[in-house]
Amino acid sequence: MSNRPLNVGLVGGGKGAFIVHPHQKAIHFDGTRRVVAGALFPDPKIALEEAANWPYPIKGYVSYDEMIAANQTLPADQKLDYILIVTPNFVHFDPAMKAMKAGIAVFCEKPLCLNLTEASELVKTARALNVPFGVAHTYLGHWTSRFARYIVQSGLLGDVRWVDSYYLQGWLATKLEATGQQQASWRVDPKRAGGSGCGGDIGTHALMQLRYVTGLDVTQVSAQMETFVEGRALDDHFTIYCQLSNGGKALVRASQICIGSKNDLGLVVAGSKGTLHWRQEEPESLTINLPNQPDRVYWRGAVTGGDGFLPQDLPADLMAEPTIPAGHPEAFHDAFARLHRCFEADVRKWKAGEKFACDGSKYANVEDGWTGIAFIETCVESNKHSGAWIALPQTI
Ligand SMILES: NC(=O)c1ccc[n+]([C@@H]2O[C@H](COP(=O)([O-])OP(=O)(O)OC[C@H]3O[C@@H](n4cnc5c(N)ncnc54)[C@H](O)[C@@H]3O)[C@@H](O)[C@H]2O)c1
Repeated sequence: MSNRPLNVGLVGGGKGAFIVHPHQKAIHFDGTRRVVAGALFPDPKIALEEAANWPYPIKGYVSYDEMIAANQTLPADQKLDYILIVTPNFVHFDPAMKAMKAGIAVFCEKPLCLNLTEASELVKTARALNVPFGVAHTYLGHWTSRFARYIVQSGLLGDVRWVDSYYLQGWLATKLEATGQQQASWRVDPKRAGGSGCGGDIGTHALMQLRYVTGLDVTQVSAQMETFVEGRALDDHFTIYCQLSNGGKALVRASQICIGSKNDLGLVVAGSKGTLHWRQEEPESLTINLPNQPDRVYWRGAVTGGDGFLPQDLPADLMAEPTIPAGHPEAFHDAFARLHRCFEADVRKWKAGEKFACDGSKYANVEDGWTGIAFIETCVESNKHSGAWIALPQTI
């Protein structure tokens, strides 16, 4: 295809929506992708009004069905190259399936969908139709997540013995949903959120951070899921003891009732030679502890090899990831942009009829999304049985 910017269509994002905004900024980050259309709201009239009021011109549609159908008749240079699904969890499966079947690539918010039946259908369809499919596990897009992955997976910390992957928030410490607050309302409703509240919403981020950095899978879980705020149907506190595929152990934990915690996602990886610490609220650096040595703090943009811990030659693609100089901070939007940039590369290859990776090394793919849902379903089952150890289903 030509080097025209990729055309992106939004599913969801109108009227006070949250996550569409970081995404749409990240889509425009490089000038090589742009939002051209949207089905922004379930009510058709409001969907069109919201599109008309979008900060730059986009084509509004009354529904994602209409947007996907209309795509068939558009000239090649106006067709959608991918859709971004930023609706609540119960409106992920249907637009994703319909888009894939219409030959449109999909970048979908997490968790992938509501249950493993839907997740399996999505994996099978993406594979059968050979369509790029990304899942928006934002924090994999930090340069320091890439660097942490390199450090752990190249064995610099030795064998992974223990991982603590946590995501603590405090915004649901009171019954916010009773005020009608939009984001809270659907997150506490099993029909719209899925089988777990806190676990599905942010426990899946902690799981993906663990899997991405260590390359290990969770094979068994013993789950404790609590609901501290009275009258809530889903967990608001989620603590999972995990067996890892290398024989190590981990905690994947999340909470939405920790007053004062904002988006405190962090990872501690304890290996037989040293320990790594990473936190998304301070994503520009990570810390390495080695026995009997001062802490080593590595800053994005200021890492050089051959320092007594890192080898002389660091992977060229890691070091070449587009960055601004150290000390000009990158953060949330940059992480999203890195995911969209890498997804764009796969979509362009796909459009050109070439082999594309979509292998989870640059952004979470549909199989990773499936694993997130399998994890949640297994945790719910374990929790029902007072934390009994239960094996996760085999990868599809
Ligand atoms: N990756 C992250 O860091 C991150 C952060 C927040 C939310 N999320 C995920 O993003 C998704 C959206 O979360 P949010 O907080 O932005 O929710 P939100 O409630 O703020 O926005 C959802 C939007 O979807 C629209 N919508 C609902 N049904 C629709 C339909 N049938 N057609 C068109 N639009 C429809 C709503 O009107 C709204 O505009 C969720 O799956 C959530 O888990 C991810």
